[in-house]
Amino acid sequence: APKPQDSALNIAANPELKGHNTPLLVLYGSNLGTAEGIARELAEHGKMLGFKSESASLDSRIGKLPTEGAVIIVSASYNGNPPDNGRQFVEWLSGEEEGKLRGVRYTVFGCGDHNWASTYQRIPVYIDERLEALGAARLVERGGGDASGDFEKEYEEWREKLWAGIMEAFGLTYKKVDKKESSLSISYVSGMTGMPLAESYDAFHAEVVQNRELQRPDSPRSTRYIEIKLPEGADYQEGDHLGVLPRNPTALIQRVVERFRLNTDDHLLLEGGGRSIAHLPLGRPISLLDLLGYSVELQEAASRSQLREIMAYTTCPPHKKELEALLEEETYKSEVLHKRVSMLELIEKYPACEMPFDRFLELLPPLKPRYYSISSSPKALGNRLSITVGVVEGPARSGHGQYRGIASNYLRDRQPGESVVVFLRRPGAGFELPADPQTPIIMVGPGTGVAPFIGFLQAREALRAEGAKLGEAHLYFGCRKPEEDFIYKQELEGYDRSGIVKLHTAFSRQDPLAKQYVQHKLNEDRETIISLLEQGGRLYICGDGTRMAPDVETTIREAYRAIRGKTEEEAVAWLNDLLFKGQYAKDVWT
Ligand code: 2AM
Repeated sequence: APKPQDSALNIAANPELKGHNTPLLVLYGSNLGTAEGIARELAEHGKMLGFKSESASLDSRIGKLPTEGAVIIVSASYNGNPPDNGRQFVEWLSGEEEGKLRGVRYTVFGCGDHNWASTYQRIPVYIDERLEALGAARLVERGGGDASGDFEKEYEEWREKLWAGIMEAFGLTYKKVDKKESSLSISYVSGMTGMPLAESYDAFHAEVVQNRELQRPDSPRSTRYIEIKLPEGADYQEGDHLGVLPRNPTALIQRVVERFRLNTDDHLLLEGGGRSIAHLPLGRPISLLDLLGYSVELQEAASRSQLREIMAYTTCPPHKKELEALLEEETYKSEVLHKRVSMLELIEKYPACEMPFDRFLELLPPLKPRYYSISSSPKALGNRLSITVGVVEGPARSGHGQYRGIASNYLRDRQPGESVVVFLRRPGAGFELPADPQTPIIMVGPGTGVAPFIGFLQAREALRAEGAKLGEAHLYFGCRKPEEDFIYKQELEGYDRSGIVKLHTAFSRQDPLAKQYVQHKLNEDRETIISLLEQGGRLYICGDGTRMAPDVETTIREAYRAIRGKTEEEAVAWLNDLLFKGQYAKDVWT
């Protein structure tokens, strides 16, 4: 069999490196876990290279960075703000005196999303520059990964430089080691099933109590209102997220079963060790269907290293050539990444690929939770909560069949009485109602972006019933046509009538000659908007982060520039300042 080659870094225990025990501190600033996951992984790699490494949150090390060994900082930015567990660290850095960190040797990796052009990598860049200004020595150039680009490749490339750079700085030799074969062994047994992964997210079972359609009968699309009963002790507040661990659909699992000529009623016992399979249920019997249903992503675009492995297991020369061609930078982006061609699709297309099932399983990424903005207030629903789920379905970009979002289709099919595996998360960046109900608020949420604002309005109604005085509130909602996708129409119009909110609607496909978007409505009201913000009002944007949110931001900056006679730079600084002060918060997705 061909030896799969993999240029991704792989470190095997290297006897020369044992026992140098150079301290290595890997700090993370992370809300959703990406940066934290990377930090933990780097700390693990460090151990294998003989470092005495540990990982910790940025905020746990305020006021003290070690001058012995190296410090690696992995941080995300959230809409230009520090992550929740890095906020105080960033504050500390900004107030520290020059020269105070002399002797510290460091490097930084940033997790970001270029769709936020104005704030892309803002916090990692700040930390990197600030550490240097305080006298710390940079060991390796800062790296950055773009979640909407080729994150994996950017990260892997930086990681190569990282180890080479750090090892050199400490006079150690660094050797890249070839990838081993599968570290997983599978035996087929009979027995009971179990469900892993959930533990690592502190997830729990919750019962679905309602599942109904929010779009009008003649709408071609579907958005579900899903209400869930929380177990005792699970609390949330308006604006929080619900993480959902979905299950892969049986039809998709069936394709794996067929491709590898397995049996649907197989029970397996997985054994092995190491980070790459930590998400798999090891050492206990599990049914093949549960294993493939609950532990791995089957529909994600194949990564470069997965492609390389598929190639390595393909002996047929013309097919090998074709696969090799896909690895070329631009081809990979357009033909694999953009079209979302998965590893499964590739091995279906190349039946001569002899990748064994254990290797395939090991290469699949762990199943990821999907985050939904909670669309209720505990003040209205008590121990229940609701989410607003846009069902993702459409022609596949690869040109073959339909693409169906895993989580939204899974949720659509859940009947009342069934349970789902979920957990609660506070998204950070201040996406919550102001403490003082009199503070004016401006909410912009077209489409399913309206979700958290339904919770906000429920809370305002309850607050008013308790006797609170409410400040001014504006909600900008947009959809295609009022008779199609005006979700929560009755509720919103009711809140408007009773003075809980002033509702502004924009319909984009009602009049084909006059496409209306939320930012057009905002622009009409720009005097009001700007003066409310200047009075300390809050601005919230929720929904599509690719185009809508940047367009809305541009509209607001432009309004400020025009009305107050400012330069473009001043307008950018003004809006960024609102973000930093927590007066402006975003909850957006791409
Ligand atoms: P469209 O799909 O008709 O273009 C909810 O998805 C609403 O947001 C729809 O009316 C959609 O319009 C609209 N939308 C699409 N792109 C937008 C953008 N860049 N800014 C604001 N709204 C947008």
